[in-house]
Amino acid sequence: MIINVFVYETIKKNYLDEKEMNYLTQANILSNRVRLSVDESTIEFNQLYLNQMMDEIGHLVEGRILIIDRNNNAIYDSFNDIRDTKISSEEISRALKGERVVSLYKLDRYGETMYISVPVIYYDRILGVVFMSISLQEAYNTINSVKNLLFFISLLTLLLITGISLVFANLISQPIKVLTEAMQRTAQGKLNERVDIDGNDEIGQLSRAYNFMSTKLSHIEKQRKDFVANVSHELKTPLSSMKLLAESLIMQPSNNISIYHEFLEDIDSEIDRLNEIIESLLSMVDLDEEKLNLNYKLTYVNYLIEKVVNNIRPLAEKKNIKIIISQWEKIQIFIDQGKIYQALMNIIYNAVKYTDDGGKITINIEKEGRYAVIKVTDTGYGIPKESLPYIFDRFYRVDSARSRKTGGTGLGLSISHQIISLHQGTIEVESEVKKGSTFIVRLPMDVNKH
Ligand SMILES: Nc1ncnc2c1ncn2[C@@H]1O[C@H](COP(=O)(O)OP(=O)(O)O)[C@@H](O)[C@H]1O
Ligand SMILES: [Mg+2]
Repeated sequence: MIINVFVYETIKKNYLDEKEMNYLTQANILSNRVRLSVDESTIEFNQLYLNQMMDEIGHLVEGRILIIDRNNNAIYDSFNDIRDTKISSEEISRALKGERVVSLYKLDRYGETMYISVPVIYYDRILGVVFMSISLQEAYNTINSVKNLLFFISLLTLLLITGISLVFANLISQPIKVLTEAMQRTAQGKLNERVDIDGNDEIGQLSRAYNFMSTKLSHIEKQRKDFVANVSHELKTPLSSMKLLAESLIMQPSNNISIYHEFLEDIDSEIDRLNEIIESLLSMVDLDEEKLNLNYKLTYVNYLIEKVVNNIRPLAEKKNIKIIISQWEKIQIFIDQGKIYQALMNIIYNAVKYTDDGGKITINIEKEGRYAVIKVTDTGYGIPKESLPYIFDRFYRVDSARSRKTGGTGLGLSISHQIISLHQGTIEVESEVKKGSTFIVRLPMDVNKH
């Protein structure tokens, strides 16, 4: 719009300047010619001579021409209208004083009009004025139509830009709106929300990140629910047994002390089981603490394993299971001794628990690249293929009936896994049903101790 106004004004000014120059020149020429029709004796215009000459050249000028003598009498009019009438106006009196005057008027009859007043000078004397009045209306019309065209183009551009902006704004804000609504639903607890926005732009990436977060959240929520259900169930089982045993005791009519003793022993072992579960839960919660500080100490893995095995040997001997430690060299690494002890204890204790009497357990300690590798191989029941992916999950047990008999919570391996992960190590399992299992623990030797 600003450019339009500027362009319009420039065109108008140039046009007017040019017209002014043109008409001034014409008026000057006229004034010079008119001078020739001066009667030398009276120093007045010679009317006859003037008419003759003006009829010759007057038609060359586009507008109306008046010749006015120094007494303001119109002595010639190309429109033959006001001949011999007195004309006075500011322009003419200024021209009579020797000035060249150009002025612009908007007249009702002719529209935009330019007045040119030029003095007629004869030997330093001002005899009269050549007055020209030229209508500029046609030219103004052209300029105005250009102005209107420019204005129309501007308006069209404005509409176009507004339209395009709206479309683009909508294109950008629509997916954001969808995402925002999905997030609000997530905040209200609907965890499995998904948004359908593709594309490789930032919004597409954001949507994918949101979908990923959503899936993860609902997964975590499911884990939490399962966990609560499992914990309740695990705690309820020993409590139910205790309740049953206690009720039987109350109902006992006889005061057979040996039955009392036997039932109390059962209750005692159920309490132990409850304790075991709660201890596992507590150590798991401990490991879940985000800012858990591992108490790193330079440790010989070999000695740590010997310590575990020494503690477990009485149990193994009861089942007539042989434990062999096979090692080529002493390996020293930075670990949290207590935690790694617990992890290895869980694994080796499992090996004893899930192996029939007379079996054999081999523990291999070796270096492999930047890792210390501990392999625990047993000749036990083995783990079915379909159970392998879940073996490190909380509360997961392959065969609940048999595991119940052997005791345990299904938390041991998940705790071991957590501890080893905290040490930036890995744990894997290979197993074949009825042949045995091998648990492979890798602990980095160049550990980054945060
Ligand atoms: N060495 C093993 N041989 C066979 N099965 C095993 C072995 N170690 C673990 N498992 C199976 O993995 C399950 C999970 O082990 P774990 O987390 O230690 O729980 P728990 O020993 O309390 O049952 C066990 O119930 C058992 O079925
Ligand atoms: Mg176990």
